[in-house]
This record gives sequence, structure tokens and C-alpha cells, in this order.
Amino acid sequence: MANGFLSEEKISEIRDRASILEVVSDYVSLKKTGRNHKGLCPFHSEKTPSFMVNEEKQIFHCFGCGEGGDVFAFLMKTGHFSFPEAAEELAKRYGIKLLRREPSPLEKKEMAKREVLFRINQTASDYFHDLLTQKREGEAGRKYLSQRSVSEQIIREHRLGYSPERWDGLVQRLIEKKVPLELARELGLILPKKKVGDSTLRESRRLDSTSWYDAFRKRIIFPIFDLHQRIVGFGGRLVGEGEPKYINSSESSLYHKGEVLYGLQAARRYASERDGVIIVEGYFDLLTLHQYGLKHSVAMLGTALTAKHIRTLRRYTKNVITVFDPDPAGIQAALRALPLFLEEEVTGKAVLLPEGEDPDTFLKKGNLEGFEKRLAEAIPLIDFFFEWLMKTHDPKSIDGKVSIAKEGMAMIRRIPEKIRKDFYVRAMAERLDIKESGLYEMIRSTPRERARPAEDLKKKPPEESLPKSEEIVVRLMVHHPELIPTISGERILDEFESPLLKRLGQGLEGIFQKKGKLDFTEALEGFNEGLKERLCEYAFQESGVEGDQRERILKDCIEKIRRRKSKKDESDLLRRIKEAERQKGGGGIEALLMERQEMAKREKGRLKGSLPKG
Ligand code: UTP
Ligand code: MN
Repeated sequence: MANGFLSEEKISEIRDRASILEVVSDYVSLKKTGRNHKGLCPFHSEKTPSFMVNEEKQIFHCFGCGEGGDVFAFLMKTGHFSFPEAAEELAKRYGIKLLRREPSPLEKKEMAKREVLFRINQTASDYFHDLLTQKREGEAGRKYLSQRSVSEQIIREHRLGYSPERWDGLVQRLIEKKVPLELARELGLILPKKKVGDSTLRESRRLDSTSWYDAFRKRIIFPIFDLHQRIVGFGGRLVGEGEPKYINSSESSLYHKGEVLYGLQAARRYASERDGVIIVEGYFDLLTLHQYGLKHSVAMLGTALTAKHIRTLRRYTKNVITVFDPDPAGIQAALRALPLFLEEEVTGKAVLLPEGEDPDTFLKKGNLEGFEKRLAEAIPLIDFFFEWLMKTHDPKSIDGKVSIAKEGMAMIRRIPEKIRKDFYVRAMAERLDIKESGLYEMIRSTPRERARPAEDLKKKPPEESLPKSEEIVVRLMVHHPELIPTISGERILDEFESPLLKRLGQGLEGIFQKKGKLDFTEALEGFNEGLKERLCEYAFQESGVEGDQRERILKDCIEKIRRRKSKKDESDLLRRIKEAERQKGGGGIEALLMERQEMAKREKGRLKGSLPKG
């Protein structure tokens, strides 16, 4: 199984043995240019190569879209591997045995508890499924499902169940199986009859059927699976009319509704094969789609679509079709999903069904062909969004144009791909009969909510905002790690003005001190996006400094940084002295003046010390 505990040493061993060049070459055709290899980026579409691999540093980076990392990151970003799967794949390829680290006692305890929780869900599911398929008590459930034309095969494949109209069916079964009832409660399967905080009372009712009752009663039960076919939670649809129509398991350590998609365990294979996935809103919609052969479908669980959902789906396909209700709420839901799609670079399309229909009712009326036609003609959500803008504002009036342009550009700027972005800017400019440059101006002037580092780099050249000498010092660290001890000795990083460069420098210094060399993959793993981006930028450029000049350049930079820092310290101090003078008699002024003198002395010493040798 691709899960478990990989030790850090194992991961470094894999990294050391694997060749990023070989691995990437399976996906991208690469050409050597200088110390790097170059090719067309597999993560965004482009015509001129901006994707680089550096064999020596074992990293890749795309200067177009900003993706980058080590060999693990590459495999994960292709969308076919999780981290443990990538490790497994590389270990196999490079003949490394994966011995797993012993989990800590705490980890063992947590794992053991998870196992128990999964077993409880399984016990409950067996109970519900048995009732529905075998027992007399399940008759009402069978009748309901047959009225809704759910096939036996679907009942089996999705392990549907029934919870009878009584208060203690599941409670009794759990007691028979010696399940700790508090844990069943944690999973939302049963509820305590009275709220009692007293721990002795709680202890006494652990195995007492009279203190608990079933959470699901008179409902069709939908077990919700994770990707390992384990049950993380349940949904339940009331048989007949009443409120609430649906209930779902409460959030638990196994069940997070913002992450799970109902039916994914069955759909993922088909989603990969067909390179597309359909998202619907309801349990029954999903079952009906599967029953009608559209098995590349998943359902949300009464929540809005989240970025996590999209990232999960992205491992199988980048083409997502959402089927929303045609009412205003459905349209709003579709529009809310759009920015998530754009940011994850997933193509989101929308299908609208006739008023009052959902996929379940529509297909059951015999409209399979009609449904497939609608799928084929699904509109990209972004087009849908523009249509909606044109409808909600008047594109002929100047106020309307401004509103449309503003809202439209707020969306377009989230598109990471330049070609696509340009396309939509052009389309919008034409429709509003305004200049494209004005729209681009809008993109630049409004602040972003979540900046993509790659784009920000393109917008402002790094030199513009980063102190040059500090940058050179960090570049020297990247290309000539043998200088790091000197840099550490001078403690110059402490005096950096740019927090980004300071953190980057200190990060590299830390790794060098720990490992005795500059391990780039470790840097890429530990650094945040901003640092990573910057590190890649430096790493893929030649240092351009001849050997005998390095030390001198370093010295110059250190000198400049110190001078700037002490100037700043001095002006800060002067400001504080003035402040103290203004507050008259407010003490402390002598101390400040002393400090001033000390500073002047230090400055003198420094200048002397740095006179050119010989
Ligand atoms: P709908 O109200 O559209 O129901 O809710 P439906 O799926 O068409 O159900 P049927 O056909 O009447 O049986 C859509 C989805 O929203 C969630 C459920 O996941 C449901 O499938 N939902 C709905 C809840 O979580 N709670 C509710 O009370 C209602
Ligand atoms: Mn329905």
C-alpha cells in the first residue's frame, strides 16, 4: 500500500538516486541549454519553452507558470501521484527498498483509533445494508427505492442501506459487537438521550442501550467512501415526506465534507479514462447517472464546491462539468465555483437542465440522449459568467461598461495561463467596444486576493524592489555555497533590509549548516511559495561571476549593506533623540546620546577595518 511512514533518510535516498532529468523526460522532451535543460511546460500550454530542469541541483521550474520543485513535486504535479505514491514509483524505478519508519506511540494510538472508527462505520453499514437487502424490517426501504427505480446493482455497488423506524436498532447492534458507544457518537451514528456532563454517568452508560438512540431513522442510507473504499460517513434520505429530508454524518476525524465527494471511489477510474468528470448536487442524482452508464460522476454533499474538491478531481482529469439547478441559487453556486476552477487551472463547464428538473428526474424520464447532448454542449463557466454580466448590467451605457469590466477583470486576472487570459481580455474588449489596454490596466491596478508568485514576478522585475547587494549575496550563496561560512561569519544576513531575502538567506544558511552542503530539494520542501519562487529564479540563472572575483564582490556587497544599515540605524536614533527632546525631561535622552556616540565609534572602526588590503 502506498501509505505509511517513510523516514526522512529514505526520502533523501530516493532523491539522491533518482535522476530528475530521466523522470521529467518521460513527460517532456528536453533540450540542453547551458547548465539547464529546457522544454515545453507540461503544466500550462505554451509555444516557446520556459520549463527548465537543472540536473545538478535536481530541481525543475517553469518561468511561465511558476510551477517548480524536486522530482517528487514533479510527479505529484503531473496529477498521477500522491507523495507516497511518487516515493513508491521512484523507489521501484531506482531499485530502492522501502523500509518504513516505526510510528511513534502517539501515532500508533491515533492510527489504532482510526481503525476502530472505520470498523464502527463498517459495522453500521453492514447493519443498514443487511436490513435493506435481507430483512423484513427493510421492506419500506426496498419499496421506496423500487418506486424511484434504483437498480439492484446500484444498491449493491454503492452499498445502500435502510435504517428502520425505531430508536435503538443500531444501538443494539453496536452493543452486540462490543463497540464503545462514545466512539459511535463521535461518528454521529448515535446520540445521547440526555445531555449529562458527569463523567461517572458517562462511564456507566458506555454499554447501556437506554442512554442512547439512533441518529438515522426511517431513512435510505448512503455510505460515503474514501478512495481506499473505507466508509468515512453516511447520508440518509427520509423515506416519505418530512423534515429534514436529508441528514449527513457530523464532521469527524474521518469525515470532512469540504473534502469528500460522494461516489468518487467508483467514478475515478472512469474520470481518468474519459478525461472528464460530472459534478451533481444530490445523492440520487449521482446514483441515477451511474445507473445510466455515466459513471464518471460525483456528487457534492450539501456543501459548496471547495478548492480541495477541485484539487482532488484534478488528479484524474482537468475537465469538469457541473450540473446546477437553473434557479438563481444554482447560478450563484456555479459562479462561486468559477474562481476556484480558474485558479486550479481546471476547465469548468456548466450544464443547465430545464426548470424544475434535476439529473435524477431528467434521466428517469428517458432523456439520456438529451442529457448527453447537453453534456457535449456544456458552456465554459467563464462564458456563462460573461453572459450573466451582460444580462445584469447594460453593456451599452458607460456605467454598465465600467461595472462589467470591473467584475469581469476581477475574474480574468485569476487565470494563470497567459494565452487564455489574453483571449478573454480581447473578447471582453470587443463586446464592450473598449480598448484592451484599459482592461489590462485594470488588472494591474486592483490588488489580488491570492497572488500567484509567477505572475507577480512578471509584473515587477525583482531588482525594482529588492536591494541589489542583498540579492547578490543570496545569489552567491546559491551558486557558490562554499562562500556560506564566510557569509555566516560576517553575520550580514541579520542586517538585511529585505525580509524575503533575509529569510531566504537564513534558510539556505540553516540547510548548509545542517547538511554541510546546499541541498536544494530540502530548501524547496521547507520554503514557502514566495521563497521557493525566488530560489528557483536564482538557481536557474548563471551566477556570471568569475572565480577570482567572487570574494571581492561579496566583500563589496557586505560593505554596502552595512553602510546602509548603519545609516538607517543612525537616522532612527536621531528621530528617537528628537522625540525625547520634545517630551522634555522625559529621561532616557542621555542613554540615547551615549548610544549615538557608540555608534559613531563603531562606524569609524568599521571603515578602518575595511580599508583595501595591501
Ligand atoms: P435536493 O433538495 O435537491 O434533493 O438536495 P435531491 O437530491 O433532489 O433529493 P430527492 O431527489 O428529493 O430525494 C440536494 C442535495 O443537498 C443535500 C443532499 O446532499 C441532497 O442530495 N441536502 C438536501 C441536505 O444535505 N440536506 C437537506 O435537507 C436537503
Ligand atoms: Mn432529486
